[in-house]
Amino acid sequence: MTPHVTGATVKAADRAHVFHSWSAQALIDPLAVAGAEGSYFWDYDGNRFLDFSSQLVNTNIGHQHPKVVAAVQEQAARLCTLAPGFAVDVRSEAARLIAERTPGDLDKIFFTNGGAEAVENAVRMARLHTGRQKVLSTYRSYHGATAAAINLTGDPRRWPSDTASAGVVHFWGPFLYRSPFHAVTEAEECERALAHLADTLAFEGPQTVAAIILESVPGTAGIMTPPPGYLAGVRELCDRYGI
Ligand SMILES: Cc1ncc(COP(=O)(O)O)c(C=O)c1O
Repeated sequence: MTPHVTGATVKAADRAHVFHSWSAQALIDPLAVAGAEGSYFWDYDGNRFLDFSSQLVNTNIGHQHPKVVAAVQEQAARLCTLAPGFAVDVRSEAARLIAERTPGDLDKIFFTNGGAEAVENAVRMARLHTGRQKVLSTYRSYHGATAAAINLTGDPRRWPSDTASAGVVHFWGPFLYRSPFHAVTEAEECERALAHLADTLAFEGPQTVAAIILESVPGTAGIMTPPPGYLAGVRELCDRYGI
């Protein structure tokens, strides 16, 4: 007979066998979630929670959206898995829909299992394509927890795993609220942050830099919306030096 599932049994099994990321394992107390729908999830004791963060900012369409659930069920019944060398209708269609929204001739989509793996592959591609090794990223950034991705990450979570040999150089991005550049307006912050990046490139040797990786709006290391013009300015610097 299946034992009666309660919040306590779920939590006990979790604490016995599940290793949680980014956590001192002995100090955490994960909430046992019994279900979710729309903007809410609930525990085993009848408490409902409004999910302001959409889990890890990844369920913006809402929990258990009926169309998503139906699509998952339908595909699971038809074809669960396929090796990378084959073509399959749903992957082709997903890629086509993404390509419709990506700019210019960025028309080829490489599917990965998550963010860190995407970053690892993007960095490898940039290095192979340019023949250069350095990658620049900002302090106060998060790029994932695998080898290159954690070295790119610009917050202290990097320190225990920083090999200091990953070819990563960090610089300051714009953040007017606590401006590293003593700026008081968005225009000043933009201009000074771009000048700082241009200086960093000049002294690192732009011909040694394969890529600059940026979150358009840093998310897990803070919510720091760049001033107008900053991203275009970074693009311009990259174009100037073949980065
Ligand atoms: C900007 C950014 N890059 C990469 C990652 C890593 O993604 P994943 O946890 O799917 O490996 C995250 C995750 O929060 C992220 O916010």
